[in-house]
Formats: sequence, C-alpha cells, structure tokens
Amino acid sequence: MANKDVTDPARMEKIVSLCKRRGFIFQAGELYGGLNGCWDYGPLGTELKRNLKDFWWRKTVQERDDVLGMDGAILTMEQVLQSSGHIGGFSDPMVDCKTCKGRFRADNLETSQCKEKPSVCPGSSPKCELTEPRQFNLMLQTNFGATGEQIAYLRPETAQSIFCQYKNVLDSNRIKLPFGIAQCGKSFRNEINPRNFTFRSREFEQMEIEYFCHPDDGMRLTDEWLETRLAFYEEIGIPREKLHILDVPDGERAFYSKKTYDIEYEFPFGIQELEGVAYRTDYDLGVHQKGAGKPLEYFDEETKERFLPHVVEPSAGCDRTVLALICEAFDEETLTDEKGKEDIRTVLRFKPTMAPIKVGIFPMLKKNDEQVRIAREIQKSLQKWMPVFYDDGGALGRRYRRQDEVGTPYCVTIDFDTLGEKGDEFKNTVTIRHRDSMEQERIAIDALLPWLLERVR
Ligand code: GAP
Repeated sequence: MANKDVTDPARMEKIVSLCKRRGFIFQAGELYGGLNGCWDYGPLGTELKRNLKDFWWRKTVQERDDVLGMDGAILTMEQVLQSSGHIGGFSDPMVDCKTCKGRFRADNLETSQCKEKPSVCPGSSPKCELTEPRQFNLMLQTNFGATGEQIAYLRPETAQSIFCQYKNVLDSNRIKLPFGIAQCGKSFRNEINPRNFTFRSREFEQMEIEYFCHPDDGMRLTDEWLETRLAFYEEIGIPREKLHILDVPDGERAFYSKKTYDIEYEFPFGIQELEGVAYRTDYDLGVHQKGAGKPLEYFDEETKERFLPHVVEPSAGCDRTVLALICEAFDEETLTDEKGKEDIRTVLRFKPTMAPIKVGIFPMLKKNDEQVRIAREIQKSLQKWMPVFYDDGGALGRRYRRQDEVGTPYCVTIDFDTLGEKGDEFKNTVTIRHRDSMEQERIAIDALLPWLLERVR
C-alpha cells in the first residue's frame, strides 16, 4: 500500500518550472502579479488538454450507444442551485489566524502552511491565534440584468445542467434507460486555499457523466463504471499501479450517496483524487422535480413501471488529469557518451495519442535548399493530420532534446541520404527517431503518413 504522505517537492518544482519554460501552463494574470487559483494554458498545454478532452469524448460519447453529449450554460439560475442544495450547503469549514491573517480550510490544517516566516502548520505554534471554524460557501455569484438585479452563479459543477435537461434529452432522443449524458466544461469554486499548482483551482474543467438507470441497477453500474474509468486512465498512459481506489466509508459520503469510489493518483505532492464515481440514487432528479414542480419520472413501456431514475456519476477533473499526465510523463534520464561523460536528458514520455506535438521535422542542414524543400513539403502534408513542429535551428542533437522535453514521440530528419547521395536505396527516405528509445530507423517518405497515423491517433 502506497503511503499517502510520501511527497517529492523537488520533482514537483522541476515539473512546474518545465511547464512555464516550455509553454504548458502559466499563472493567470502573471503580468500583474497573478490571480490566485487561476491558470492559463500555453500552446503546448492547450494541445495536451484538447487531446485529453477529445479522447474522453470519443471514448465516452462517440464510441458508446448509450451516452449522449451536451454543453450547458455556465451561468446558473439561483433556483437550480437552491434545489440542488448548493446554496444552503456547498461549503467548506474555514478558520482565520489573527496573527498571520491567513485563511485556512479547517479540515486541512495539518497539510497547510501559514504566512509567517518560518512558516508553520496553522495552530501548531503558540503565536497562532485561530478563530472557531465557520462555513464558507464556495460558489461564485454574479449579477445581471440592466440594473444587476438578477442573481446568477458560475456553476460549481457541470452536473446540474445535465439533471435539469435530462427530460429534454430523453424526450428528444428516443433513448431508453439506462443511458448517460456527458458534459465537459468549466466549473468555478471559490476555494479557500488553492494549491498544488493546478490541482486545486478556482476555475477548472470537469468531465462528467450522469448515467440514469433503474434503481435495481445502481450498485452494479457503479462498479462497472469504476472499471471503465480505470481502463480509460490506463489508455491515456497512467498505469494501474499508480492509481488507488478509495471506497469512501459510510459517514464520509454525501448523505444521498449509497456508494462512492474515489480514483486517486500518486502525485509528487501525495496521493490525491482524480475522479469520483458516485451512486447518487434518485436524489438529484428528486430535488429538481420537487423544486421545479414538474414531473421527471420515467415510464418503462415494457414493464409499465413509472419511477424516478437513479444516477451513477463518474466525475473527473480535466485539469487534474492533465497534471497527472505531465507528472507521470516527466523523466530525467542519465546518458553517458563514448568518452564517459554524463548528461541528463529531460523527457516527457507522453503516450503518442496525448502528446501535444506528434512529430518534429528537421532538415539536417538549413543551408541545403533541397533538404529544406523536402522538409517543408513533409511538414505541409503532415500538418493536415496532426500537430507538427518544424525546426532547423542548431545541432541535430539539440533539436532532438528540445522535442524530448515537450514529449514529441517522433522526429523526422531529412539528410543527404534523402537526396540520394548514398545511392538509390535511401533516396526519398528519411530517418525517424523514437523519443523513448532514441533508436532510429529509415522509412520512405511516402510511407510516413500511414506510419504516423497508426501510432499517434
Ligand atoms: N458533480 C460531482 C462533483 O463535482 P467533486 O468531487 O466535487 O464532484 C469532481 O468534483 C472532480 O472535479 C474531482 O474529482 C476533481 O477531479 C475535480 N475538481 C473538483 N474541485 C476542483 C478544483 N478546485 N480544482 C481542480 N479540479 C477540481
């Protein structure tokens, strides 16, 4: 059993630094000092996140007959969140320290650090003066209408619009139970202590499925969804042995949940939640049926049964999964050259399907017009199918290293052999260099696209 408290701050520091240096993730508003708990994805981070979301959509919606997609509004009516219980109860316990003026989650004190120097865990020094815990609602409110008279909230989860539209989706799609509605999009929470890079943010994306079913099937489907989701993480490159399943015990689950599994990952800052798979019973449809005063029951034509469907909810964090992908991919490898000199190679070992750039394209000599012409032609032909990166700057070895550091799985080099200098055998062939093994092979230019498509999609 892995230890929840084992951490590697040095590794995490390197990862955060790489993310900024190579344009994966920046602090939002950094130019003006930074907006705490908010992050901007740079060019490579955006590609990585897109790859994850596209793959999730493909596996969850496109490749299944029983899940439909939707894209709900972020601004949410007060009544919706009143019924769901968020206005009354979506809060964390908070304490203030009168000495350092810090504000902390009362249930996370042992893993928090105060602002005093040297920093201590709040409450652990005689100087700390903590207030009694009080509940702090995590929702972000906004106003609209000409005089701002109408209150709305930035949604705290994508789930609520799915529950509210469940009947419309059902009636407009000739679908029968069990079926799911999936949604990927932004959610907002005024977290008391955003922390661990993007892990706990105030603005983040979720990938949620609400799977509606007969009450008799809820427990079984919860277990089935857990397995489906574990397989998904393995497919994107997070090995099973780094994932932990927490069967949330009675008393720690939401009061309406009959079963909840947390899928956790071994981050460098400890084992932490990536996703929850919760059996929410008929709680959600029940509260909206009552709140809106409109029937949300399902009528089964075959059994002539009328009932409120139960819900199984696999709810994943997109930003957390991106962070897990980066943490999992990050590697520093010591290489020794022929003279015995050691050198460290930084590599992001992403699965090719997740990698932001799929192939680097290098003319060996940028002054050789023919090599450049062929390299540009290859770039143009591949670009229609996948993100590529053309680079003619500096020594070839350095170009490879730059791509290793951002996780590009393949690099293609156009050299003198491509031009036929070693005879016809190698003419119109290029070198493909593999990121992980650093091995190289020769391949015909005509065969390049199918070779790559088979591996990167
Ligand atoms: N609809 C259920 C729901 O929202 P949750 O456990 O509060 O459940 C689901 O959130 C997932 O959303 C979490 O497992 C996590 O991956 C992600 N998430 C929640 N709060 C987050 C935050 N402040 N920053 C980043 N991701 C967050």
